[in-house]
Amino acid sequence: MAGSFLTAQGLSSEQLFEIFDRIKILKHDMKQGKTLDVLQNKVIGILFEKPSTRTRTSFESAILRLGGSTIYLPVADLQIKRGEPIEDTSRMFGSYLDALVARVFEHQTVIDLSQYSGIPIINGLSDLAHPTQAVCDIFTVLEVKGQVKGLKLAYIGDGNNVCHSLLMVCALAGMHMTVACPEGYCPDPAILHKAESIAAQTGAQLSVVESPDEASVGAHVLYTDVWVSMGEEEEEKTKLEIFKGYQINVDLLKVAAEDAHVMHCLPAHRGLEITDEVIEGPRSIVWQQAENKMYGAAGILDHFL
Ligand code: CP
Ligand code: NVA
Repeated sequence: MAGSFLTAQGLSSEQLFEIFDRIKILKHDMKQGKTLDVLQNKVIGILFEKPSTRTRTSFESAILRLGGSTIYLPVADLQIKRGEPIEDTSRMFGSYLDALVARVFEHQTVIDLSQYSGIPIINGLSDLAHPTQAVCDIFTVLEVKGQVKGLKLAYIGDGNNVCHSLLMVCALAGMHMTVACPEGYCPDPAILHKAESIAAQTGAQLSVVESPDEASVGAHVLYTDVWVSMGEEEEEKTKLEIFKGYQINVDLLKVAAEDAHVMHCLPAHRGLEITDEVIEGPRSIVWQQAENKMYGAAGILDHFL
């Protein structure tokens, strides 16, 4: 199905599981070193307004491994920086490229890119959503646990982009999710509402609480993200204070299910949102999670292109 992937809410449960199946097959084939031509003759732009280690590298690597080509487009090198409207830039991208992976500050930018370019736009993170991350992450849960339906994920931290997409993907997958966040940093009510309406169809239970302990009771997965997101550097001092208790550590793991695993979208700040002991410990599946971003990127591109 050709189209943009701006948030996970456009997906159906069936499509999500089709993508998971595709990721599994492509992971197998890519690991075998098979020559793949899924993206043969496709030229895909990689437009980033913010730094990235994993999303950029995993997408570029996946595109090259699937027979496509990439053009890296840092915004500082584009005329957008000198005031060219996003509409005009998007029209050019529509003429030159087959698709674009974009990491932006404002979610409206990926909407505009999609509307004016007419080519598939893959959201590589906006202030509102990080859908490719959540798809890859819940694929990792499926891979590790053998199932996702009925399992519980506890998200500890800021209720922003990564949390929003996890809510949506968990809802689609029938996986329960409890968010623990400090007052003022809870998920966007409109996104929570949308995720809840999906959850009502799939049997997932979603909730938001303040206490990390309460959220983690019986959880099969503990998940966290940075306390200070890109673009929030000025709020750093305040946020470090507010989020102090929102750390995944061995004490929090004791509250979770016996076989609970720990995930982090990365980059991690050891000693803040997660301890060194936990991220490097036996319950951590963080490195498998990060590795799967490349296979996830492949499956997502295959689906949307
Ligand atoms: N998790 C993630 O999106 O990492 P990067 O910021 O390095 O791309
Ligand atoms: N919430 C983080 C995610 C980083 C992958 C941010 O927006 O910076």
